[in-house]
Order: sequence, then C-alpha cells, then structure tokens
Amino acid sequence: MNASYAVRWAAEHGLPRLALRAKYRLGDPFARLLSGEEGRSDPYSLIEHLRGTGGAQTGPVGYAAFDYQLCRAILRDNRFGVRTPIDPKVPGPLRRYAERVVLPPNPIEAPSMFMLDPPEHSRLRKPVAAAFTPRAVARLGDRVREVTTELLDAMAARGSVDLIGDFAARVPIAVIGEMLGFPAADRELFLRWGDVVTPLLDVGISWRAHRRAMAATAAMEGYLAAHIEKLRREPREDIFSVLVSSGELSTTELMASANVLMGAGFETTVNLIGNAIPLLRANPDQLDLLRAEPQRWPGAIEEVLRFDPPVQLTCRRALEPVDLGAGVRLRPGESIIVSLAGANRDPAQFPDPHRFDITRTNAREHLSFGSGVHACIGASLARLEAGHALPALFERFPDLRLDGEPRRRGLSTLHGYQHMPARLGRPAAAPAVPSMASGDRRFKS
Ligand code: HEM
Repeated sequence: MNASYAVRWAAEHGLPRLALRAKYRLGDPFARLLSGEEGRSDPYSLIEHLRGTGGAQTGPVGYAAFDYQLCRAILRDNRFGVRTPIDPKVPGPLRRYAERVVLPPNPIEAPSMFMLDPPEHSRLRKPVAAAFTPRAVARLGDRVREVTTELLDAMAARGSVDLIGDFAARVPIAVIGEMLGFPAADRELFLRWGDVVTPLLDVGISWRAHRRAMAATAAMEGYLAAHIEKLRREPREDIFSVLVSSGELSTTELMASANVLMGAGFETTVNLIGNAIPLLRANPDQLDLLRAEPQRWPGAIEEVLRFDPPVQLTCRRALEPVDLGAGVRLRPGESIIVSLAGANRDPAQFPDPHRFDITRTNAREHLSFGSGVHACIGASLARLEAGHALPALFERFPDLRLDGEPRRRGLSTLHGYQHMPARLGRPAAAPAVPSMASGDRRFKS
C-alpha cells in the first residue's frame, strides 16, 4: 500500500480519531454520536442531548448544528463551502504533505461533485442532473417494477430471507447499475466495493478501514477506466454512455461522477427501504392504514425519510467569517457538522417529532435530501424505488415478520441496517405490484 496514503489517513482521520477517542472516554455525547455504537444504533437520544438550548453547538472536532432552520440556512448559504479533506488545524507540514497525496478516485475526493464548490461544482453537476429530472426518472417506473417483482419472486421461493441483502440493496443497485451501463453480473462486485468505501464518509475511521477503502477504490478505478474506454468505442443509450459521448467531462471527472452516482445511488436508498421495514412492523396501526388507504404510501415514505434518515449528517466549511449568533463565530476554514437527523427531529419544525406518523402533513419538509446547491440529484429516483419496493413487499407478504433484531451498519454518516433476517409467511395469492407507469394515483407527487 502506498506509504503516502498513511500520511493522508493520519491527517484526515488519525488525528480527529485521537481527539474523538479521548472525548469518548470522558463520556462526551458528541464523541458518542460520531464514534460510539449507541450513536450508530440510536443517535436520536444523543442528538436531543446535544440540541441543548438551540443554535450552533461546539463539539470535539468542530461545531455542529441540530436546529432545522439553522441547518437549512447553512446548506443554502454561499459563505459555506463543502468540507476539504484536511482540517486546517492539522499541523502545517503534515497538512501540506497530506494535501498533495492523490488518492484513487472516490465519492468524497475532488473532482467528485460532493467535494466541489461553484463554479466547478456546477460544471460537474449540470450534465449529470439532466438525467435525473422527475420526468426522466418517471420513465424508469416500469423497470423498477420489473426488478422488484423479480426479487419478490426469488424470495417467495425461499421463505426465510435477509431483507437487506436479498431485497433493499438489490432494487437500487440493479437500477443505478443499468443506468450506468454495468453488466448485471458485476453487481456483487459493486456491493462489496460499496461496503468498504462508505466508511470514508465518517470522521476518524481506522487505518485498517482506510486501507481497505483505498484497495477497493483502486480496483474501481481500473474497472471504470476500462468501462469508459469501452463506451467510447461502442456508445450505448444509458445515461453514462451519453455523458461519456458528450465530451463535456474528462476521464477523471467521468470516473468521479460514476463513483458518486453508484455510491449515492444505492448506499442511501438501501437504507430508506431497509429503515422503513422495522418502523412499519413496529407500528402496525400505520401499516393497517396503508393497507386500507394505499394512496398514503408517498406520505409514509417522506415520514420514514424524516424519522430515520439514511444520511444522518453532512459537513460545511466557512469560506469567510460567519457569525451564527449566541457567540459562535466561525473563522474561514472552520467546519460545522450539519445534523440532518437533528433538523428532522426539531420540535419547532415538526410537532411531536419523535412520533412516527405517516399522516404528518409537513413530513416532506425534512432535510434528508439536503438543500441548496448540493441538494440530492437522485431524490426522485429514491422516491420512485421506495415507492414501488415497499408497497409491493408488504402486499406480496402480508404476514412478513422480522426474525430477531436486525443488525445496524457500523457507520455514523450513513444510517441503515447490515442484515435483516425475516420470515415472509404465505405470499398473497395474486401479487399486486402498483405501477407509476400505469398511472397509479398513489405515486403522483
Ligand atoms: C434515500 C435515498 C437518498 C438520500 C437520503 C440521499 C441524500 C443525499 C444528501 C443528504 C445529499 C446532499 C449532501 C450534502 O449536501 O453534503 C445528496 C447529494 C447527492 N445525491 Fe443523494 N440521496 C439519496 C439517493 C440518491 C440517488 C438514488 C442518487 C443517484 C442515483 C443520488 C445522487 C446524489 C448526488 C449525485 C448528490 C451530490 C449532489 C451535489 O453535490 O451537487 N442520491 N444525497
């Protein structure tokens, strides 16, 4: 493994890790949220503790915001940019060396659009966003329905399943994989790569996790270079081939975009579908309501997004001095964690915020897809996928039961389950999979 990666890890993760661990041992709730098991399985009681009296809070690795209005304002404020990997507080020589280390392309490394500020950000985002307009996404409805039906058929033959590995992860990986033109046979490869690359989104990951992520991103780099080369020789009709043929982006930029779309395309939606299942099982009255009034499914999906968001937090860095009130003044370069989960549970925005209520009228105001220039490109696609997958699952298997406690993934930024063993029970006689394409009113947004 490249020795300079170790320097990069030390500056980006190693030092924050030391700070977090020291605070964790002292019982600091912020450190518990970012690094502890309880912060990953039930972040919400820690968030309530941290919300305090409102406004920006000071944490072990910078500031943090939990208020809805403050989080939204920061995401929409051009005095903030996206996080640079190396914190300016890291000692000079180490920082300068680490900043020069070039890692294999990955979703949180420039020129990934996640990590760029305007105007470069706009140049990378515009051609990709064109493929994800609500109208373009609606055309995928039939394919999403087919994928869902195939997966449900395969599960019906087995009875006992893992609802994450056999279902929740499979719907989005199939759809985004096809949009990017990857062969179906390579989905397993992407699932494995995704699993080891996503920890890069967290603060203070271990050297071992970083090394595994670098090995996977290096393998992805080779795979994507060959894929792009092939599409240049033999253009096709998928969105990625169109992007390659347009000549608007360099090979490195194309790789970065494919990385972001692949990662964001399935590592998040798997959590939306996965988080919804135990929530609905634990609230049978709400599931009954959905059975009686299926037109409520879109509202239910918004409430899952609000209540248990797949992406819990993001980060911004002040580009100039910013006064956040109550004595919190960020200097240029200082960062602030924006707790999307905290914003979604802010009682000033969502009355009785800890109650899961699919009839909540303003659930869609959640910040789970972010806001401002980096707002999620794939929100319509995620809603479409969950909007087909969840009703179809519960209609096909009305007696579905979880088989023991589902296991959470050990991550702080992405929030979802690793495994969810379940018994499906007897399938419904005639699968009634709703379809956007057939004009089913449930899925009109
Ligand atoms: C439930 C599913 C999803 C959730 C919760 C989600 C959440 C988010 C959030 C919070 C951001 C903003 C990050 C920030 O401001 O720092 C974001 C950005 C993004 N998302 Fe999603 N996402 C989901 C699904 C998808 C899908 C299906 C795709 C594409 C296929 C996608 C593509 C993107 C891209 C490309 C960005 C970066 C936009 C930019 O930097 O301009 N997402 N997403």
